[in-house]
Amino acid sequence: MSVPPRFLMVAPTHYNVSYSINPWMDPGRWRQDPQGMHAQAQAASAALCQALQGTGAEVELAPGSAGLPDMVFPANSAVVLDGKALLSRFRHPERRAEEERFLAIFKALQAKGLLREVAQLPPGCFQEGAGDCVWDATRQQFWGGFGPRSSRQALAAIASHFGHEVVPLELTSSRCYHLDVCFCVLSGGEIFYLPEALTPEALRTLRTRVDERLLIEASEDDLVHFSLNAVCVGRHIVMSRCTPALRERLQGRGYTVVEVDLSPFMLSGGSAYCMSLRLDWQSQAFAAGAQSPGTVAKHY
Ligand code: ARG
Repeated sequence: MSVPPRFLMVAPTHYNVSYSINPWMDPGRWRQDPQGMHAQAQAASAALCQALQGTGAEVELAPGSAGLPDMVFPANSAVVLDGKALLSRFRHPERRAEEERFLAIFKALQAKGLLREVAQLPPGCFQEGAGDCVWDATRQQFWGGFGPRSSRQALAAIASHFGHEVVPLELTSSRCYHLDVCFCVLSGGEIFYLPEALTPEALRTLRTRVDERLLIEASEDDLVHFSLNAVCVGRHIVMSRCTPALRERLQGRGYTVVEVDLSPFMLSGGSAYCMSLRLDWQSQAFAAGAQSPGTVAKHY
């Protein structure tokens, strides 16, 4: 029996763009047509859910909360690996009340048997979940973004909690406020990234650790289309928009791009990757030790 990939999404019932905590957020644009935008957001979220299911994944849909519009980005709520969820500490007061709501959501996932453990980072540091801490199944390590949102000191806490290295990558630009806006790990071990978003030291780290044949440089177009904020499941890459040039490059490496128009969420600075949180990642060490007989974990 194989385990399908599983993602958490949050229903967009309470989604809107009513404040601005990153340069992409445009409450004025939302206010021009709140009802129309909301309807578009509902449709876009449903389309993403379907696209993920189309790759063979399962989706858990959790409810959002009134007054917390950014809960639709659950990748910011926790880092998850080996059945353990480590919950975030948000930098901006606008998002802090999400911590408590997500704690309840993760406890419910634990009660359903989808997680083994739920823990919170100690207060006093900032860390915005898988948006700033990306699991690399090929290298069996995390890439940890820090700077605009997450603090560097949180990376050590994540490493000791999961028993896996977190390689620090400092972010330079406010447009790339989370690592997942400018950095995407593909299932074949390729890293699709925007060089300008990383400090010279972070670039050196990346280029030392990853063979240059596996590095795919993104363009400004890819950034503004949120093409890097993508979900890779097997040979499928789900993303909001893709230029023909990018599609061709990714096809050349054996990937099929699945486009889903997520523009109502791009207006908040998010897209496919941060609208979904992968719940089933397992490290090889854990899978080797904890497999029940007859269960084979898939590694994407
Ligand atoms: N409006 C949200 C914020 O600024 C968007 C978060 C998108 N998440 C992400 N990982 N890129 O926090």
